[in-house]
Order: sequence, then C-alpha cells, then structure tokens
Amino acid sequence: MQGVPQPTRDEVLKLPRVHISSHPVMAHKMTLLRNKNTPPPQFYQLVKEIGSLLAYEATENLALEKSEIETPLQSTTGYRLAGGIGVTPILRAGLGLAEGFRQVIPDVQVWHLGLRRDEETLQAMEYYNRLPHQVDLQVVYAVDPMLATGGSAIDAINILKRRGIPRLSYLGIIAAPYGLQRLAQAHPDIDIYVAALDESLNDMGYIVPGLGDAGDRQFGTF
Ligand code: PRP
Ligand code: URA
Repeated sequence: MQGVPQPTRDEVLKLPRVHISSHPVMAHKMTLLRNKNTPPPQFYQLVKEIGSLLAYEATENLALEKSEIETPLQSTTGYRLAGGIGVTPILRAGLGLAEGFRQVIPDVQVWHLGLRRDEETLQAMEYYNRLPHQVDLQVVYAVDPMLATGGSAIDAINILKRRGIPRLSYLGIIAAPYGLQRLAQAHPDIDIYVAALDESLNDMGYIVPGLGDAGDRQFGTF
C-alpha cells in the first residue's frame, strides 16, 4: 500500500448504505478482540458474539409475513421472516462470524466461499466454492471480519451476483476507509454493516489499529 492514497475516516463516513455499529456492547467486545493478549479460544468466541450482534443489526429491514398461531390461551396473528436467508462465510476468517449469525437465525443456508489474499500482490484468489445453483432466498449476507483493500469483498459480491441473488449485504468486523470506499463504489446496491471503521492500511495492507490477522487469531495458526 506504500504510496497509494487512502481516504480518511471522515471522507467515507458519509457513504450511502454504510452502517457502522454504535452499540456500547459492541465497543466493549471490540476492545477485547483487538487486545493482542486475547488468546485464540476467547478470540473465536468474541468473533461469534460480534457476529450475533451484527446479524441483529443487519437484519433490521428483513421482510416479514403474517403467521396465524395458537397460544395456550387463544389464536393470534404473529410474524415470521419471509423467504430464506443465506450467509456466505468468506473462508476462512468468515467462519466464526457465520457461526454467530446462525445463533440469531438458526435456519440460514450457509454457502462457503474460499478466497485467499496473496500476501505480495494483495489480490484475492478463489480456491473453494460451494454456492448452490438453485437460489430462492430473500437476501444473502457475505461475512468476513476484515475489509482491508476491499479486493476479497468485491470479488465475493461479484461471485454472488452471478448467482442472481436479488439482495446482497456485506457484514464485517473492521473496515479500513480505503476498502470501504472501494466496496461501496464497486457495489453501490448493497448494504455494508461493520462493527468499526479504523484509521488506515499500513504498508503491508493490514488494517491499523486493527486486530492483526483475523484468520490466524481465530484458529491459532501463527
Ligand atoms: C483476510 C480477511 C479477508 C481479506 C481482507 O483473509 O479475512 O478475507 O484478508 O483483505 P482485502 O480486503 O485486502 O481483500 P486472508 O486472505 O488472510 O485469508 P484467511 O481468511 O484464510 O486468513
Ligand atoms: N486481513 C486480516 O486478517 N487483517 C488485516 O488487517 C487485513 C487483512
């Protein structure tokens, strides 16, 4: 990223369809997550918990349909989510987030997509794809903790769009202004939900202050 101009936080805060969590519980968990002394089992647990909180925030506009039920006392009209919901964890770091999402909506379909960022070029490469060919869902969430240069997220949304999904959203933990701007410009038709917006990318393409390597910290591969 050396010599590449990056936007500031203020410049990207006004982007449309970008949602940055302002919940105090999220801020508390983010601080535990960022701490370099947090060991992998606790880190993974926190990623799941943050995934649940983000799922709650990112599903606020889902469509509902009426559902007639009997309580133990009488019949009443309730609501249930209209149409299926899909989650695509971008492997491997997206696994913990997807697990947290499932704790909020257990009957989501999970479509795995493997993308790995080349450490030299910072380009994302697809290495695994288990997206179904039959799509009948109201929305699919691409989930990945780190939105750094945005390359992985942009490619993931391109791949999902080719499946003809009517509505897509991106859900992540930390965004860099550079990656957030690139994703919002490449895919202005999606909602982007993140727990935090950080300062910048360093020369190696890592988000600062960030949390380090989200995959290694979840799975203990240092
Ligand atoms: C990390 C992260 C994102 C990507 C973000 O994954 O989980 O997928 O980098 O970087 P970008 O915005 O610059 O594309 P990584 O490629 O390290 O793979 P991993 O999940 O297997 O650790
Ligand atoms: N991927 C990570 O895991 N961390 C970063 O800071 C950037 C990309």
